[in-house]
Amino acid sequence: MFYHLAITLAVVSWTVACLAASLPSREDSGQKPLPVVIWHGMGDNYRGDGLLQLSNEIRDIYPEIYIHTIYLSTDPSSDRSATFFGCVDQQVEAVCEQLRDNPELAGGFDAVGFSQGGQFLRAYVERCDDPPVRNLITWGSQHNGIADMPACKDTDWVCKSARNIARSNVWGSYVRDRIVQAQYYRDPEDMENYLEYSAFLADVNNERGEKNATYAKNLATLENFVMLRFKDEQTVVPKETSWFAEKNVTSDDVTLLRDRPIYQEDWIGLKALDERGGLTFLEVPGEHMQISTEAWKKMAKEYLGPRKVIGNGLKLQTAF
Ligand SMILES: *[C@@H]1O[C@H](CO)[C@@H](O)[C@H](O)[C@H]1NC(C)=O
Ligand SMILES: *[C@@H]1O[C@H](CO)[C@@H](O)[C@H](O)[C@H]1NC(C)=O
Repeated sequence: MFYHLAITLAVVSWTVACLAASLPSREDSGQKPLPVVIWHGMGDNYRGDGLLQLSNEIRDIYPEIYIHTIYLSTDPSSDRSATFFGCVDQQVEAVCEQLRDNPELAGGFDAVGFSQGGQFLRAYVERCDDPPVRNLITWGSQHNGIADMPACKDTDWVCKSARNIARSNVWGSYVRDRIVQAQYYRDPEDMENYLEYSAFLADVNNERGEKNATYAKNLATLENFVMLRFKDEQTVVPKETSWFAEKNVTSDDVTLLRDRPIYQEDWIGLKALDERGGLTFLEVPGEHMQISTEAWKKMAKEYLGPRKVIGNGLKLQTAF
């Protein structure tokens, strides 16, 4: 019934758009696109070629858009190291300050997170959200953690050393306070240690007894939270984490987000968001972070740019 209604409304608005084609659209009427903030993933840096290319593809669509790529150090090599070594809570805090201090962002922005940058931007929304995020779009992120440390390229020694240290004793205080990936490690077969020792994820997912109501309140203010998953994902174990689902790696059973307590008891505002039509699960072709120009531009057209004419979170679902 609801589905039918949505289709009808979409058709109606399409008709309106056609009739109004000769009038100036809101995009032409001087309304600037909302700025975009991008948080890159593990092993990347804020000046990487890939990021530059993706930023330029957004500018092809919105020539006047302001884009900020988050950095933890202005030196690209240290910025890259900070994707492996550091304390995530402190990194998120530094980013809250970086974004608050940027006058270009004062009116709010759309946030795009790549891989681990996605759950870190979600933490920004939950803990700070000042200035506020309109749409949060995450690509291949580990919202429900990882059950194994991500694999490294053969020649990536920084990555390999982080991985080896982490695997040696993931809950030891040395590892959990210093290795970034250990701070979102979550093995569903060992929830006891996770709830006791997790340095980042258990808190930001509000999984402990005491819930922080601010997290749920802030996340529910998003207009859209879009989680993209890579169809041929091999890097992130398990890939279901990109849709906030949980996988039992022994039985292969997958519990979807909507069937989990974090959603049903609305620990972080996802249910409230979903009931407003603001929660979207999309799958894109490709291996981890192999973003096609086509999928990227579709995202940019759908979720970035000026405010859409039809509000209330009601919009056509595009298949990516
Ligand atoms: C809840 O989170 C907010 C935002 O990070 C923080 O200011 C507050 O101290 C937290 N409350 C508790 C009880 O931890
Ligand atoms: C995962 O599946 C196995 C085998 O069916 C089962 O014994 C185990 O309890 C399950 N784990 C969780 C966390 O549900």
